[in-house]
Amino acid sequence: MLSDRIQTLSPSLTIAITMLAQDLKNSGKDILSFSAGEPDFGTPKRIKDEAIKAINDGFTQYTAVPGIIEVREAVAAKLKRDNDLDYTAADVIVSNGAKHSLFNLFQAVINPGDEVIIPAPYWVTYPELVKYAFGIPVTIETDDISGFKITPEQLKAAITDKTKMLILTTPSNPTGSIYSRAELEALGEVLKGTDIIIASDEMYEKLVYDAEFVATASVSEEMFNRTVTINGLSKSVAMTGWRFGYLASANKELIAVMNKLQSQSTSNINSITQKAAIPALNGEADEDIEMMRKAFAARAEEATALMNEIDGLSVKKPEGAFYLFVNIKDISDDSIEFCKELLQEVGVAVVPGIGFGSEGYFRFSFATDITTIREGIRRIEKFVKQKRA
Ligand SMILES: Cc1ncc(COP(=O)(O)O)c(C=O)c1O
Repeated sequence: MLSDRIQTLSPSLTIAITMLAQDLKNSGKDILSFSAGEPDFGTPKRIKDEAIKAINDGFTQYTAVPGIIEVREAVAAKLKRDNDLDYTAADVIVSNGAKHSLFNLFQAVINPGDEVIIPAPYWVTYPELVKYAFGIPVTIETDDISGFKITPEQLKAAITDKTKMLILTTPSNPTGSIYSRAELEALGEVLKGTDIIIASDEMYEKLVYDAEFVATASVSEEMFNRTVTINGLSKSVAMTGWRFGYLASANKELIAVMNKLQSQSTSNINSITQKAAIPALNGEADEDIEMMRKAFAARAEEATALMNEIDGLSVKKPEGAFYLFVNIKDISDDSIEFCKELLQEVGVAVVPGIGFGSEGYFRFSFATDITTIREGIRRIEKFVKQKRA
């Protein structure tokens, strides 16, 4: 009865852990959750006010499929101002979150058997969406020693005549690593003379600590032409529930087919969200964004230091995003088992590294208040001590 296509999808480990944590909570256990992938801050007032205005103005009907011209112009202006990228409104499609942008992109370019190179650890959704398009995910392993970044040599070795795309996530979920300009240029050199598309997921662009963010498409004209830039407002402006993501590409044919796909599937995204996104893109929420960034930066600093004080665990301080990707190899080679025991014994929910394609780690989200973070790490220490005793 079911399609072959739907059976390619695996259930999300993140959701499995969240549900187990919820069950334990419902049974009265004291559970602290560090599995969330969203900011613990509310959406800035300026943005909420704009949404209320849009409702009161009656801006409640269908809009153009890729988004109203004003919001696509605001995206193009943001990409110019922040990232020095020369896209126009016609190069932009606004979708229901960056997840939807990626879905459209994969459906538009992947043929059965096409290979998509995905550096691991990766955001859990990529391989699933690639498989759903009948593509083949090809992972490149990275580790904390290499700073969780692929090298030009690794990329070269992974390319075959079936390679269609390379996915880059900078800053990365789950590791927080950021590719420098020189590193992006070096990867670009390897791709010269090929038709390989780069999908550059830049969702965490605004959440950067002691590092410089460089947009992949900005490093050269060649990289601009091969890169599809993906971004959104979920993480940087605390707008996860609003569903505002976008992609931009200089390839007119690609934009046209993705518009066609979106027109036959979801049509435009919520009209109110589009209006509310304009001040966010225009920099009118920048003070709020900076407040959040500073809070995340302080937590990154303290959580990394506390975690590294635990004998047997180690973690590299993230350069961006809001996760620690903690090495547990001295203690366990089964991250699912480790995370289950951690949850059951000391009531701490984190996500097993294997869910991100890298065994021997867990992901700890610090998108929660510092008191809870301190208590959570104290409990992790207690658990690790027990395991090592
Ligand atoms: C790397 C990365 N890209 C994209 C997304 C999707 O964001 P959204 O669909 O909310 O825009 C997420 C969310 O967890 C993410 O971590």
